[in-house]
Amino acid sequence: MLGQAVTVALADHDRQHEVLTFFHLQFDITNLEHHADWILNRAGHFDVVINCCAYTAVDRAESERQATFEVNGLGVGYLAATIQSIGARLIHISTDFVFDGQANSPYREEDPVAPIGAYGASKLHGEEALAGIGLATVVRTSWLFGPNGACFPRSIINAYRAGKSLNVVADQIGTPTYAPYLAEMLVKIAENNPASGTYHAAGPEIISWHSFAGKAVLAAVGRVENVRACRTSDYPTPTRRPAFSALDCTKLVQAGCYFHPPLNESLPSFVETLA
Ligand SMILES: NC(=O)c1ccc[n+]([C@@H]2O[C@H](COP(=O)([O-])OP(=O)(O)OC[C@H]3O[C@@H](n4cnc5c(N)ncnc54)[C@H](OP(=O)(O)O)[C@@H]3O)[C@@H](O)[C@H]2O)c1
Repeated sequence: MLGQAVTVALADHDRQHEVLTFFHLQFDITNLEHHADWILNRAGHFDVVINCCAYTAVDRAESERQATFEVNGLGVGYLAATIQSIGARLIHISTDFVFDGQANSPYREEDPVAPIGAYGASKLHGEEALAGIGLATVVRTSWLFGPNGACFPRSIINAYRAGKSLNVVADQIGTPTYAPYLAEMLVKIAENNPASGTYHAAGPEIISWHSFAGKAVLAAVGRVENVRACRTSDYPTPTRRPAFSALDCTKLVQAGCYFHPPLNESLPSFVETLA
């Protein structure tokens, strides 16, 4: 989802960037030969590499722990070493799932990390692989939705339109983030080159999945009925998720790289992209 949004944002002609997009089919982040073929052999071609690839199946990660860590940890380490050796900058995407969700105010970059599932642990492993690499920037985001690929509001709107009754958890709180807006922020980071380190980049609203579902249905259908609130414990999943994972983006605002209009602008844009 995000990789496509970033490609679109970078390809904007006014920006005059030369963009090379790698697809999983060609470039496996866990395969060192691919790093040589696609990056080392084109050493002079890259100023910045934005890594949007990841193992993102949060529930499956519990039973596919090794594969998850290979992509989100080991592969990121390979990428860091490769990028460092050609003197380019690396912008790497991480997640709110590195936190345990016990906070009651939005997480800042320096808050203690303590993932509660395999996916979050693997993404933290990826962050750690970048520690000490001066030209690396970690951008943590949360609750992504966008025009390309599966995402929460797409599933909710489709289910609602199909007449299904919906029960949506109201006791998980986060910051929904529209992939095209996140892509804009990543391009700003690439262009403005703020100090390396970790930044949070997420939407401005702190809401529950249940409220998010209601707003998505309202944007798509113009009314909301029968979207009921339930608790996480009503629908157990293979992995635990943070109860509260809103991200504080003040650092990115101060760096002049924040861009995220509210959901009453992003959801109508998103709805327009639905077939
Ligand atoms: N989605 C969210 O709600 C969310 C929230 C917070 C953070 N993030 C982070 O944001 C980033 C983008 O997420 P997304 O939602 O855009 O994910 P996505 O739609 O699942 O895309 C991930 C991409 O990575 C590719 N990939 C998987 N394994 C790979 C490998 N070994 N080598 C190369 N490519 C590989 C996938 O290809 P295949 O499809 O062929 O497997 C897919 O194209 C990720 O770092 C994710 O951890 C996402």
